[in-house]
Amino acid sequence: MSTLNKKFPRLLPTPIKKGMKAADLIDGSFKAYNGGRLAEACKLFAGKMLAEDGTVGMSLTGALTPAGLGRSAIVPLLKAGFVDWIISTGANLYHDLHFGLGMQLFAGSPFLDDVTLRKDGVIRIYDVLFDYDVLLDTDAFVRQVIQGAEFQKTMGTDEFHYLLGKYVYERERQLGIKDTSVLSAAYQCGVPVFTSSPGDSSIGMNVAAMSLRDSKLLFDVNRDVNQTAAIVYSAKSKKSTSSVFILGGGSPKNFMLQTEPQIQEVMGIEERGHDYFLQCTDARPDTGGLSGATPAEAVSWGKIDPDTLPDCVVCYADSTITLPLLTAYALDRVKPRKLKRLYDQRDVMLEAIRTQYLRHGSIDKITHRTDLAAPKKGRSGRSVTGTARGSKSKMAKK
Ligand SMILES: NC(=O)c1ccc[n+]([C@@H]2O[C@H](COP(=O)([O-])OP(=O)(O)OC[C@H]3O[C@@H](n4cnc5c(N)ncnc54)[C@H](O)[C@@H]3O)[C@@H](O)[C@H]2O)c1
Repeated sequence: MSTLNKKFPRLLPTPIKKGMKAADLIDGSFKAYNGGRLAEACKLFAGKMLAEDGTVGMSLTGALTPAGLGRSAIVPLLKAGFVDWIISTGANLYHDLHFGLGMQLFAGSPFLDDVTLRKDGVIRIYDVLFDYDVLLDTDAFVRQVIQGAEFQKTMGTDEFHYLLGKYVYERERQLGIKDTSVLSAAYQCGVPVFTSSPGDSSIGMNVAAMSLRDSKLLFDVNRDVNQTAAIVYSAKSKKSTSSVFILGGGSPKNFMLQTEPQIQEVMGIEERGHDYFLQCTDARPDTGGLSGATPAEAVSWGKIDPDTLPDCVVCYADSTITLPLLTAYALDRVKPRKLKRLYDQRDVMLEAIRTQYLRHGSIDKITHRTDLAAPKKGRSGRSVTGTARGSKSKMAKK
């Protein structure tokens, strides 16, 4: 007699019915392969990442906002308090601006003649089409806005996107439109938005061009690295959870995950890694690239807590399918959460991690401890943070 029934639920899907809700369809009928992983991802997001008021960071790669996923999924997640901070490619934030500025994109076809499109001044992102003027007008908006006095300084990309979001929000109000833009919603919800490669997008290109005129705007990437680590450290030192929700891979995935090695390996503060890892991607693990690296591999770097590894999920599917389903599931199964407004706490969080670093970090080699056995337990069974790693704690030398 098999003992499988003691370990696993029986594979017996619910027949699909007319009028079924997305969340019920996923729970009842997504049972195997990447459908099964997506069902696990939904349960992880709704049941653990969002539970107990844990901090959720989302990373965005791939052409998501041009496909309309900002308005359809990311804005509703922000407004429900289900995403507390974001790391995005510049491209997703640039193309988000088109929606906030009331411009038009079209659901076209991938099978068009690109030479004809070029002659007609039409831009194509696979099957998404828009006029070249959309680019020119968006570029002009960025250049106009960043001439303001508040932009004439060096700042983190979270501050830059907050200020930019304020102007997008104003434009939405003037146009009589609402909930169209990630940057505008993040501004309204106090959600910090970072980009890991500020020069690698049309936003960065316009900022660069303006620096050849008289603009004083510069991005402080050191602040971004420390500020993102400070967000994670703040969550963990309050004995709450830190979760990563990764769409695609790329540089934003690493920028989000590296917060833990920044705390442990570089700053010398004891920590065990992010608690929950959820990734939807098409990137494979066997090439050695970071985009396809699994949560198990991330454990070896101290990025993920080994105790929560069994809960981590990778779903190999297109984000244009997974993100709307994950959003519908979470909105159906979880009540909206109080907004954390992490942007408003950025200076306080940075000062807290700076104090810990100066207390425990070193300019010499950090004494390393890999046996995280018998940690002091916090509320969710994790070690309590804020103590020096290993036996040798050194003050930072000047
Ligand atoms: N006009 C612009 O501003 C512009 C336009 C395009 C790209 N860029 C820049 O180019 C860089 C690369 O951008 P990218 O986002 O296209 O990265 P990318 O194509 O390198 O994708 C990153 C990762 O996400 C995965 N991925 C992509 N789309 C996916 C999907 N739909 N579903 C699941 N997984 C998916 C890929 O396999 C890869 O592992 C960024 O820095 C971006 O800002 C700028």
